[in-house]
Amino acid sequence: MKIAVIGSGYVGLVSAACFAEMGNRVTCVDIDSIKIEKLNNGKIPIFEPGLEEIVLKNKNLFFTTDLSTIINDVEIVFISVGTPMGTDGSADLQYVLAAAKTIGETMQKEIIVVNKSTVPVGTADIVKATIKSELKKREVEINFQMVSNPEFLKEGTAINDFMKPDRVVIGANSDYAFNKMKQLYSPFFRTHDRFITMDIRSAEMTKYAANAMLATKISFMNEIANICERVGADANQVRIGIGSDKRIGYSFIYPGAGYGGSCFPKDVNALRKIAEKHGYKASLIASVEEVNNAQKIIIAEKVIKRFGENLSGKTFAVWGLAFKPGTDDVREAPALYVIKELVKRGAKINAYDPKAMKQAKEHYLNNVKNINYYKSKYEVLQNSEALILLTEWKEFRSPDFDEIKKQLNQPIIFDGRNQYNAFNLEEIGFEYYQIGK
Ligand code: UDX
Repeated sequence: MKIAVIGSGYVGLVSAACFAEMGNRVTCVDIDSIKIEKLNNGKIPIFEPGLEEIVLKNKNLFFTTDLSTIINDVEIVFISVGTPMGTDGSADLQYVLAAAKTIGETMQKEIIVVNKSTVPVGTADIVKATIKSELKKREVEINFQMVSNPEFLKEGTAINDFMKPDRVVIGANSDYAFNKMKQLYSPFFRTHDRFITMDIRSAEMTKYAANAMLATKISFMNEIANICERVGADANQVRIGIGSDKRIGYSFIYPGAGYGGSCFPKDVNALRKIAEKHGYKASLIASVEEVNNAQKIIIAEKVIKRFGENLSGKTFAVWGLAFKPGTDDVREAPALYVIKELVKRGAKINAYDPKAMKQAKEHYLNNVKNINYYKSKYEVLQNSEALILLTEWKEFRSPDFDEIKKQLNQPIIFDGRNQYNAFNLEEIGFEYYQIGK
């Protein structure tokens, strides 16, 4: 099939690459000419395992800034642009609507317009109206179908998630659209298909409900962990105790320094706003967010409790800046919040992350003074009062504790991801702080 994907961010680029891997001819369109030039020269703007190999070798994948040159040669156009958090917390639809406008301005024949961006319920109707109004301006009548096809991929495992999906949700209102989408996705199912078809608004809502449910599990567990700390229980054991119940399950109940990333914070907030707009106060969703906001600085609070409010003259070593392992993405990462809290009190930070230092330094911590970046996990510990672990990268999971002790001023570890619970650190002379114990 010939398809176009508007947007070359995480979702757009991964979708385009994976569709191309399945033999489709895919053109990825982005208004950012620098990004497109880089992609045409084989340079990938994001770190995502496996993505570079596909982009470099696949002969079916093309990049352009000009939708008009290809739109009339494709059957399906995906909109996979960003929907960042607007100033009031709701999803900012300007990029989605700009894409819709371009489609309306350039299409000459019938196509299927698929929305893959996470958008408030009802956006498909707005996209449809935007395209129609452009067609009207041009005084042409062309049929097109709207589809909502939310994406559930996770950063760091995006290619695998896309190539072997748990489910493909398709919201549409014609058999023609359902069938075309099924044709496109069928090759991704090896044993049996996992299509879930529904109406467009339910598909739009499914994405928000999935992310809010997962975020709720995390905030719930973090709240339990905070109670565990106060009553002398161990959240690590409680997690296993409750996860064994199949109705609860083991996944997404790891207590930690809070959830970050480009989706959960933005989508939980947006869902609360959608409810508000429709006259409903989503108090549970609001609490999920509130618990997470507090959780993101919980490790800083533990450091302050141990070292006092005034941290001037003290340096702390941070392992991990990315919001989770396997990505260079630091958007809404707990590390940003912890670092800012400590620096505010006069502390100096030595930071190390295997992949995310450039992103953090250039875009997210560029205004924060008193941070030094190091090239290795042991070097970063020098002259530091304590090690603070904030992202559970594999290289941090089983470190040389003798080396850590040798490098730090004092053997103290604050573990924001409960990675060293099994190492009996107290027995080997560490002061060890974790979440929920
Ligand atoms: C998420 C959804 O999982 C994905 O389906 C959706 O399409 C986009 O949002 P992603 O943001 O890539 O994906 O990351 P994910 O692996 O879900 O982790 C999100 C955050 O939750 C991370 O900060 C992680 O550290 C945190 N987390 C996750 C916990 O704190 N505890 C857990 O038990 C699980």
